[in-house]
Amino acid sequence: MTYYIDPAESLKGSVSISGAKNAALPIIAASLLCDGGTTLENIPKLSDVRNMISLIRALGAEAELGDAGELSINTENIRESTVPYETAGLFRGSFLVMGSLLAKLGKVKIPLPGGCRIGARPIDLHLKGFAAMGAKIKQNGEYIEAKCPALTGAKIYLDFPSVGATENIIIAGCLAEGTTIIENAATEPEITDLIGFLNAAGAKITQDNRAVTIKGVKSLKRVSYGIIPDRIEAGTYLTAAALTRGEVTVKNVIPDHLKPVTAKLSDIGVDVAVKRTTVSVKCAEKKLCRTDIKTLPFPGFPTDMQALFASLLSVTDGTSIITETIFENRFLHVPQLVRMGAKIKTDGRTAVIEGTKYLKGARVNAPDLRAGAALVVAALGAKGTTEITNANLIERGYENFVAKLTALGAKIEVGEDSSAIETAPEIEK
Ligand code: EPZ
Repeated sequence: MTYYIDPAESLKGSVSISGAKNAALPIIAASLLCDGGTTLENIPKLSDVRNMISLIRALGAEAELGDAGELSINTENIRESTVPYETAGLFRGSFLVMGSLLAKLGKVKIPLPGGCRIGARPIDLHLKGFAAMGAKIKQNGEYIEAKCPALTGAKIYLDFPSVGATENIIIAGCLAEGTTIIENAATEPEITDLIGFLNAAGAKITQDNRAVTIKGVKSLKRVSYGIIPDRIEAGTYLTAAALTRGEVTVKNVIPDHLKPVTAKLSDIGVDVAVKRTTVSVKCAEKKLCRTDIKTLPFPGFPTDMQALFASLLSVTDGTSIITETIFENRFLHVPQLVRMGAKIKTDGRTAVIEGTKYLKGARVNAPDLRAGAALVVAALGAKGTTEITNANLIERGYENFVAKLTALGAKIEVGEDSSAIETAPEIEK
């Protein structure tokens, strides 16, 4: 899919934020533990979510996604412990069913998550957790196989607060015998949402700073649960508003989740107004100023917003420095932004951005989901038309992206990628 984007006037209006992709994926995986059925609300209709639904269906679950984003799941017939290779290879979140299958069936055979463009993204911390809980794990070709008739609680220290490893271990710990404690766990809002879901289903999980304590229970019950709004989607529209010097309100958000982003927007001169479930930005000053950004685990600045801020800082006054500490290869947007006239130099995990007056439309390629979104945001403020190929990657993380941006004043046409264009493999997240 190719986006053709013409420069927009300043974006204006309000946009309702969808459910969080990165909360929906682990919660759907965790729903395999619930006896009978589960109803999830505010599920975003995205390809990654659809792939997760196909994956749990292949394991024996019944799952139906309604028009309003309600997903009903029935897990009575989950018998299959082998995760299908084709579906799992499509998205990184597939690996989150490892904890559920181990806990529910006592065994799992799961493909290694696909290669990735933003870093090596190993799974050692996930496996370390399962091994500490008694699982016997081996790698067989491209599959990880693990067995454990009954997981037992354990104390697990994570070298790094990995989001996925924290989620997988929490899920596995719910039905384990005894108590599991994860030290140096991730504390992203999506983790808290997963815990909220599991506790609503009868799990006994507490979170205290970076420690998560999971007291194993015999079973989890049927539950109905609503997913949190997507903080990265919200941050994307706020950044687009700032870049086009516009005036936009994101609705249906949890403003606390957006603090690392809104604090940076305030720093560079954007007016930010926060209400209970909305955040509004306005650029009274047309000139925005430089800042430095270091990506960190929550509540630090999110790595998923880094590329978007690279676009924004490309057209603000002064020289900004971005340091990416989470992923070792997450500057794939930089060469594309440079094609649009951005003045950015990278050295390892650091990018130095010299602000320029405006960017120019160019033919660019979306290298991954957030980098692609960053190119869209850059294009909205650029002079001339920008053509972004491989835009299907962007739609994996944004529900109704083109429609929502168009309602704010963007001018985007959608076409097919020409066959001559080399597309990036479908292996992100
Ligand atoms: C989740 O990925 C998100 N994906 C990512 O969002 C997000 O960028 C990331 O968390 C960080 O916030 C989903 O939730 C589906 P990690 P995850 O494990 O869980 C290293 C998006 O755009 N690590 O916290 O894969 C790893 O290599 C996506 O929506 C290990 O070393 O992230 C990385 O450097 C992209 N060993 C760091 O930890 C492990 O076993 C953070 O990874 C696991 C991770």
